[in-house]
Amino acid sequence: MPSQHHPARTSAPDRATSAALAFQDLVHRRRDVRGEFTGAPIAADVLTRVLTAAHAAPSVGLTQPWDFIRVTDDRTRHAFHAHVQDERAVFASTLTGPRAECFAPIRIEGVLSSSLCLVVTYDADRGGPAVLGRHAIADAGLYSVCLAVENLWLAATAEGLGVGWVSFYREEFVRELLGIPTGVRPVAWLCVGPVTHLEAHPDLERAGWARRRPLADALHEEWWGGHYETTSRHPVTQLAASRVRPEGRQLVPATSPAIPTHQE
Ligand SMILES: Cc1cc2nc3c(=O)[nH]c(=O)nc-3n(C[C@H](O)[C@H](O)[C@H](O)COP(=O)(O)O)c2cc1C
Repeated sequence: MPSQHHPARTSAPDRATSAALAFQDLVHRRRDVRGEFTGAPIAADVLTRVLTAAHAAPSVGLTQPWDFIRVTDDRTRHAFHAHVQDERAVFASTLTGPRAECFAPIRIEGVLSSSLCLVVTYDADRGGPAVLGRHAIADAGLYSVCLAVENLWLAATAEGLGVGWVSFYREEFVRELLGIPTGVRPVAWLCVGPVTHLEAHPDLERAGWARRRPLADALHEEWWGGHYETTSRHPVTQLAASRVRPEGRQLVPATSPAIPTHQE
């Protein structure tokens, strides 16, 4: 509550709420970018802040099993781009009917139009043989790398940059292209750079390919399927809800059960 004597001041709970709101705004502003890159350069200090945020991610056993390869070379980018086009064709050949028609115009990368690319890798050997917290779940190392990617993505968004994750590639191809040692996995090829704007809704939603599930569908109370009572009274929840209202084209029915088909 604002104080009577100091109208400009806010109490601790109010400050916490505005920080939470700012964070929620950032989270919901983040988009996967393909077509909106300007190609303008990224200032060195901005890139350092983004990478520093990525490097601050939590990691199993404090292994920090990630590395980041900056790729700007045109020949490398063209070689990767050609490979992505091949893999796009492989995926497209698995589709038929309305799904094939829906996929055809969807852009899946900004490899050549972004300012630069960052390839994030995973080294399972980092941290020695006895990684604290990984003995029962080998994937915990991979989870750690994905958290670094998310930190990077959010930090880039806060800096006004766009990020696009490209996974239409074979790991062996990228390993050879970038000289990545055997055993180190390329986890994410990220296209990064200034953008004209960030869309309000995911490209795949706007294209009618898939739609986000309402949060309520993902919540369970005490056991799988247990009813979880939600409230939209809190401003943070309201902000999130206002951002996930779907719009755009009708969803094309998926033939694969892996593709979300929820209709509100
Ligand atoms: C692991 C992973 C791989 C992805 N691979 C691709 C990709 O190859 N091409 C693409 O266009 N988008 C890719 N995306 C982006 C998703 O399509 C996108 O995150 C999703 O549609 C939601 O949109 P939003 O990120 O704008 O909220 C990938 C995202 C993740 C997390």
